[in-house]
Amino acid sequence: MNLANLRIKNICCIGAGYVGGPTMSVIAEKCPEIEVNVVDINEKRINSWNDQDFNKLPVFEPGLSEVIEKCRGKNLNFSTNIKESISSADIVFISVNTPTKKSGLGAGEASDLKWVESCARQVAKFSLGHTIVVEKSTLPVRTAEVIKTILKNEQNSEFNNTKTFEVLSNPEFLAEGTAINDLYYPERVLIGGENQSAIESLSKIYEHWVPKEKILYTNIWSSELAKLTANAFLAQRISSINSISALCEVTGADIREVSRAIGADSRIGSKFLNSGPGFGGSCLKKDILNLVYLSKFFGLPEVAEFWESVVSLNNWNQSRISEMVVKKLFGTVSGKKIAILGFSFKANTNDTRESAAIQICKDLLDEGAILSIHDPKVSEKQIEYDLDKVSINHKNNIRHNELNQIEGSWQKFDNLYDCFKNADATILLTEWQEYSKINWATASKSMRHPAWVFDSRSVVDPKVVRDTKLNLWRVGDGS
Ligand code: NAD
Ligand code: UGA
Repeated sequence: MNLANLRIKNICCIGAGYVGGPTMSVIAEKCPEIEVNVVDINEKRINSWNDQDFNKLPVFEPGLSEVIEKCRGKNLNFSTNIKESISSADIVFISVNTPTKKSGLGAGEASDLKWVESCARQVAKFSLGHTIVVEKSTLPVRTAEVIKTILKNEQNSEFNNTKTFEVLSNPEFLAEGTAINDLYYPERVLIGGENQSAIESLSKIYEHWVPKEKILYTNIWSSELAKLTANAFLAQRISSINSISALCEVTGADIREVSRAIGADSRIGSKFLNSGPGFGGSCLKKDILNLVYLSKFFGLPEVAEFWESVVSLNNWNQSRISEMVVKKLFGTVSGKKIAILGFSFKANTNDTRESAAIQICKDLLDEGAILSIHDPKVSEKQIEYDLDKVSINHKNNIRHNELNQIEGSWQKFDNLYDCFKNADATILLTEWQEYSKINWATASKSMRHPAWVFDSRSVVDPKVVRDTKLNLWRVGDGS
């Protein structure tokens, strides 16, 4: 393929979030002849993307800062210049948030498409000449119809008859924490659409680094639905393994052994069989709920019920952990200090959206526990937002020696070992690598005995912990 003749010279991406930022950075790195403009309405977020201190980028992803350092200010720009960036773009990626609707029709299930609709209107208004519009956000099947209708209206307007559009679906499959690697070596890139020339233009971008046989072409509806289905299947595996984990705990089986045994069957495969506190993240739950809504909408209640059960199991799994902690601590955690290790929804990300830690911490705070929270990447401000409760550090009217005694309060510690001081229990909620290297003998000395370690992520070496005076509960361990 002759890349010198590449038609696409200028890309605009609307939405500088966990997808827009990393995805466009990698495109800019791999396609140095293309100018990539990432725009957002959130000025603060854009300023962070432009910060000279790479520790202040709004998204933490291993390898991301290196890519930004290489391309930013060359062919990669972050700005709030939405109008100019759309006007000069040959191709516009819509990469905005599509959260579950909080109110109105379909509340609690359907995706809220107001940000996508507003993008389509911006593109209709500001674009010049021919523009390829790409759905990068995860969208309900048939959303392209809505985008096309908005664009067509502009195309047919008597004042703007020079504008033309093509709409493609190109969902993103990256996972947080491994985003850069996933973008460098995708298992597949999916392009859905009808117009051959538009499909080829988009495909040529990826062909800079993705082998052609990994680029799949489908019709637009299959592409939209495949994205929702992929996330639903992944979530379903996690709920399946978590359900068996609970069964292991009461039968003497061990979930790690069961996972290994079933994962060796190539029809099942070994990935996504790690039992944990329940899946979090901004997308798995949202996308299943969207599937539930669509199934109901299209008159398939049995299909809706099947997928709904995956979410119900996940909710139950989160609540069973906090209940079990209370039971093991003699039925009350009121006034007891509990160390919480990990607040992000998985390791190697600063993202806390739908993190199992949020509900588990809220439950324990309601029970009167005093939480000492540690996470290497999540800020105190973010935890405050998620728990809807200010950190005890910020209660100015409280004397310092009283800080540790207020029931239903929490504090964040930067030093992991400070969390253990006088704690009755430690709960591991995120599988950060540093937690596998904890010196449990030291931790045990700091804790108040009898003390417990609750490992919801299979992070610790059980023998090492049990060799100290600590009691250990491990997810899915029936021994
Ligand atoms: P995000 O919330 O991190 O970022 C979205 C950004 O879009 C925000 O910064 C917001 O200010 C901006 N925005 C909203 N409306 C805008 C407008 N009209 N003009 C300009 N900017 C606007 O979301 P995200 O995690 O990046 O997810 C984006 C989409 O990608 C979602 O549909 C999600 O389901 C999908 N997705 C996410 C992931 C992931 O790992 N987070 C992976 C694959 C797909
Ligand atoms: C997920 C998908 O893996 C991506 O392919 C998809 O692009 C993305 O959603 C999206 O659409 O947003 P992500 O949510 O970033 O990616 O992370 P995952 O690795 O899927 O983990 C999701 C949750 O499941 C985490 O809380 C994780 O700890 C949990 N998990 C994962 C388990 O409990 N066990 C496992 O074996 C795997």
